[in-house]
Amino acid sequence: MIDVMLLLDLLRDALARRTGLLDRLHGEGTDCYRLLHGIAEGAPGLSVDRYGSLLLLQTFREPLSAAAVDAVGDLVNPSLGLELAVACNHRGDAPPPDFVPHEPAAPALAEHRCQERGATFVIRARHRGQDPWLFLDLRTGRALVQQLAAGKRVLNLFAYTCGIGIAAMRGGAARVLNVDFAQSALDVGMQNAAANGCADDRFAVLKSDCLPVLRQLAGMPVQRRGKHVPFPPVAREPFDLVVLDPPRFAKTPFGTIDVVNDYQSLFKPALLAVAAGGAVLATNHVPTVAAEAWHEALRRCAEKAGRPLRELAPIAVDSDFPSFDGKPPLKLALARV
Ligand SMILES: C[S@@+](CC[C@H](N)C(=O)[O-])C[C@H]1O[C@@H](n2cnc3c(N)ncnc32)[C@H](O)[C@@H]1O
Repeated sequence: MIDVMLLLDLLRDALARRTGLLDRLHGEGTDCYRLLHGIAEGAPGLSVDRYGSLLLLQTFREPLSAAAVDAVGDLVNPSLGLELAVACNHRGDAPPPDFVPHEPAAPALAEHRCQERGATFVIRARHRGQDPWLFLDLRTGRALVQQLAAGKRVLNLFAYTCGIGIAAMRGGAARVLNVDFAQSALDVGMQNAAANGCADDRFAVLKSDCLPVLRQLAGMPVQRRGKHVPFPPVAREPFDLVVLDPPRFAKTPFGTIDVVNDYQSLFKPALLAVAAGGAVLATNHVPTVAAEAWHEALRRCAEKAGRPLRELAPIAVDSDFPSFDGKPPLKLALARV
């Protein structure tokens, strides 16, 4: 188990490195960010995040003692000048039989609201899934979408809790279609839309596997494992911005998602679903995929699909997600068609 004194030293250093970033984020109305980023900051299998009024620790290897969790709270709260409720989620190996977990107080387990550039997001430390309903590392992606969205029709694939969709609405999008097969995530997305005053006709959610939706929008035949696997019919309509944020690997009744070996089978229909002059914002979360090789695969796919890219712009993640070598696992690229 990590030594508490070492952990507090690492956290002090991490807070010091973030002084400028936190000033900027607070200045632009953001109160959710990562304070300690695992192995890249000397703490393998451990992250510390602030989500509004909640301080959330997550352990992905060894659990943290209750005393260590409290000590982290005692360091962070005065450093930020706040009184955050503290919760710790353990996701790693089974703790030893005599392990006493940290017991979060009721406020830590309540639903919280946090802010990103003035947008409100509902979050919860504990629910059936792992992430507390907002992926912090996608902040620069949401900022870009908000910047590009005015008057645009936006297709948000693998939408989860619609963070990207909310950013698009706040940027003045004409239409946002959020697609995900998890109704529970889309329900949170609707809560987010209501919290931001944008649950109107322009904002739609569709519970479906993304593959048949995307292929229909691209004018491509839907592939499916059995004739009787149903999927919602979707009429073709043009989108100016398609956001593609797939999981690493998944087998679905409509095909396989494999972002390491076959990003093309998602990227090609995404390009075909984009109106002339539009763009695809694509992500790749796999640490072993090098940005350059992925960009090359995207360019080649676009050439072959007859939709060559005018520009392919990498989008950096913010510095609360540092990496050893400047090669963060999450890669974002804006591909202009
Ligand atoms: C990494 S999260 C996406 C995060 C999201 N883009 C955001 O802005 O927070 C992956 C999401 O993809 C969804 N998902 C995975 N495979 C899917 C599929 N084949 N069709 C639809 N949704 C899928 C999951 O339910 C999950 O919400």
